[in-house]
Amino acid sequence: MRRQYASSPRHIYLIGFSGSGKSSVAERLAAKLNYRFLDVDATISTKLRLSIAEIFEKYGERAFRQEETNVLNACAIELRPTVVSVGGGGVERGRNRRLMWQSGRTVYLRCSLKSIRQRLRGTVDRPLLRGPKIPLNVMRTLLNRRKPIYELADFTVVTSNRTISQVVNQIRKLVTTL
Ligand code: S3P
Repeated sequence: MRRQYASSPRHIYLIGFSGSGKSSVAERLAAKLNYRFLDVDATISTKLRLSIAEIFEKYGERAFRQEETNVLNACAIELRPTVVSVGGGGVERGRNRRLMWQSGRTVYLRCSLKSIRQRLRGTVDRPLLRGPKIPLNVMRTLLNRRKPIYELADFTVVTSNRTISQVVNQIRKLVTTL
């Protein structure tokens, strides 16, 4: 995989597994930096007027993944600096990774499996991780597959047992001391 760095990185992409805090952190970080905030899942959901679970049910995962790429494509050419919350599986397509690397910095929000599991308890709109008790092996398999990709991020920030403010402040320091 060839990595092309952005000559003028405008955006900040938050990547990581479901439940790692991407959306909450992205929204707060955007407000602090006076950047635009973009949640990829919410954008798709608003566009199709369906929840993520309904999109998976009605159109299938492939169609959802294409929508993810469409949103990232549009974001990559957006001039306003943006903090983007990318769905947990959004990093799996090479095309998506290239779009992120070419237009911004990526920050991996790393969270322990234990914390992720706790945070996702009772989740209803995550079709890949649903149910009263998400099987640990399902999560572990998915996380193990994605971990090496998440770790390609420009920065890694641990979110287990940390507040949103602590995480936001750490990212602000990282991106402003470049
Ligand atoms: C997914 C994660 C979800 C959402 C969709 C698929 C995944 O986003 O994009 O349910 O493949 O892990 P979050 O990471 O915000 O839960």
